This record gives sequence, C-alpha cells and structure tokens, in this order.
Amino acid sequence: MPVWLLKLDERLPLRYSFWLASAAGLVIGLFTWFAFGSDSGAVAALLCGTLTLVGVHDVLQKPRAVLRNYPVIGHLRYLLEFIRPEIRQYFLESDQEAAPFSRQQRSLVYQRAKGDADKRPFGTQSDVSATGHEWLNQSIAPTELSSQDFRVDIGSAASCTQPYSASVFNISAMSFGSLSAQAILALNAGARRGGFAHDTGEGSVSRHHRVHGGDLIWEIGSGYFGCRDADGRFDEARFAQTACDPQIKLIEVKLSQGAKPGHGGVLPGAKVTPEIAEARGVPPWTECNSPARHSAFDSPLGLLQFVERLRRPG
Ligand SMILES: Cc1cc2nc3c(=O)[nH]c(=O)nc-3n(C[C@H](O)[C@H](O)[C@H](O)COP(=O)(O)O)c2cc1C
Repeated sequence: MPVWLLKLDERLPLRYSFWLASAAGLVIGLFTWFAFGSDSGAVAALLCGTLTLVGVHDVLQKPRAVLRNYPVIGHLRYLLEFIRPEIRQYFLESDQEAAPFSRQQRSLVYQRAKGDADKRPFGTQSDVSATGHEWLNQSIAPTELSSQDFRVDIGSAASCTQPYSASVFNISAMSFGSLSAQAILALNAGARRGGFAHDTGEGSVSRHHRVHGGDLIWEIGSGYFGCRDADGRFDEARFAQTACDPQIKLIEVKLSQGAKPGHGGVLPGAKVTPEIAEARGVPPWTECNSPARHSAFDSPLGLLQFVERLRRPG
C-alpha cells in the first residue's frame, strides 16, 4: 500500500470508507434537495442518512466485531452468509453433488411424483471413468428374474421359529410421538401395499400401527416401552403379549441413543399424551426417559442372553 494511503488510514481508517461515503452522500443529498428542490436528492439523503445511522449503530454495538470494525459494509458478510445455501444450491453445486441427495436424484423424484417423463436421452452426465463409478453391463445372455421383489431371509430355522422374508426396502425407525398418528397410519398403509416392514421406533406399537396391518419391526430401546414394569425395567410377560402378535415380524434391540450417545433421551411430560402413554406403557403427562444404557444386560454376552430371552419368552 502506498505510504500516503497508510498515513491516511492511520487518521481515517479505510475500513470506514463505505460509512463515510454514506455520510458524504447524505450531505450532498440534503444540499441538492434543499438548494434545488431535487426529488432524487431527497431519496439519496434518505437512503444515505439511513446507512449513516446504521454505521453509527455498528460502531457503538459490541457483540459483533465485524460490524464494529467495518460499519455498514460489514452487513454484506451477514447477508451473503444468509443466502449462502441458496447460492451454493442454485449456482455452485453440481447436479451430482450429494448433500444428502443430489439435484439429479431430487429432480427424478419430482418428475416421477408429477407423472412427468423421467428419462433423458443422449447418454449419461456421470463421469464413467471416475474411480468408484459403478454400472450395469449388458449381457449377451440375459436371464429372466422370477421376481423384482428383492427380499432377504432373516432368522434361520435353527435359531428361530418364525424366520421372516424381509424386503430390502423398509421404513426406518420413527416413533409414534415423534411422528403424528396420520404419519404412522400413512407409513403403515404404505408398508402393507409395498410388502415391506415398518419399524416402530423406540415408542413401541401404537394403535395406529395396527389399523392397516403392515408388517412391523418392534424396536426395543433402553426405556423398554411397551414391555416395561412400573420401574421402567424389562417385563418379559408384557413383552410376550405384544411379541406374539402376528403383525410383528421382527424385534430390534436398540443399544443406545445414536443422536445422543451417553445421554439417553427424554420425552417431556407435556408431550406424553394418553395415546402415547398407552403405546409406551407409561403414565400420561409424566416425563418419560430412555436411559443411556440398558438395565437388562451390561455386556456383549449379556446382550446375546437377552436376545435368547426375547426369542423364547416365558
Ligand atoms: C422423526 C424421527 C424419529 C426417529 N425415531 C427413531 C427411533 O425411535 N429409533 C431409532 O432407532 N431411530 C429413530 N430415528 C432415526 C431414523 O430411524 C434413521 O436412522 C435416521 O433418520 C437416519 O436415516 P435418514 O438419513 O434416512 O433420515 C428417527 C428419525 C426421525 C427423523
């Protein structure tokens, strides 16, 4: 930077330039307004006056160092930060960048949901030579698939009496309570129609899970909802009652709170409606806890013994 500019900066920091320019604009605007009755002078005076006042506020406030050091112009930083996701999404992000779904995947879902054409001629836009790119090759002797309903068997005849042929597409665990009754009804109806399984989540089996009869995976967490005694410990008899329901195809043991490791989870009393309380087997309007750890076992071996208890309750 030239010496004269450095000297000027010492007396009148250049970072105040925009603020000072606003003040100068205010003076010129006022002058042209009063001297010549110019309407644009009035507009300029109003605009520059507002910016000058914003600058005064910026240098006087303390919480934001950027604004204190760069009055008026510093607001650009917050504005740009505010619209950063949109700028990324609309201008910078490529069609294949996934976070968590790429624009290409989202467009495909939108097109199919609207019944629009979802095929695009003239080849792929993917980089087919990129490391990790996967594709299907044509075969000169294609076979016929007997079914497009891809399923896997869970539970061998040796280890359990009711193995389950599960779809590879299922509905992941989301409790009644975190989802509304309408959502549970819709998901379970979908599971029924699609021939896949609906995971209850920790909140256990509610009456809404049973309306459409879609296959259920009953998730049992550290709160033992739906199979607990009054002290919140695992209750084998209560477990057996629900587990024998033919709609329940799988039991899933949730070991800990993935989103809150070491902390457990809390459902505040105000959210424990009678319907939620009924599904979980807890008193209504009372805080209900998912402890950080299980009380029925405390080691890998204990977990396997617990699983055996679940397989043969009573
Ligand atoms: C509303 C909501 C409730 C959830 N409840 C549970 C739950 O009770 N038990 C559980 O194991 N996971 C629960 N999850 C986690 C989901 O099952 C899933 O693992 C998570 O959302 C990550 O998958 P995604 O990336 O497809 O969303 C919940 C997720 C959501 C959004």
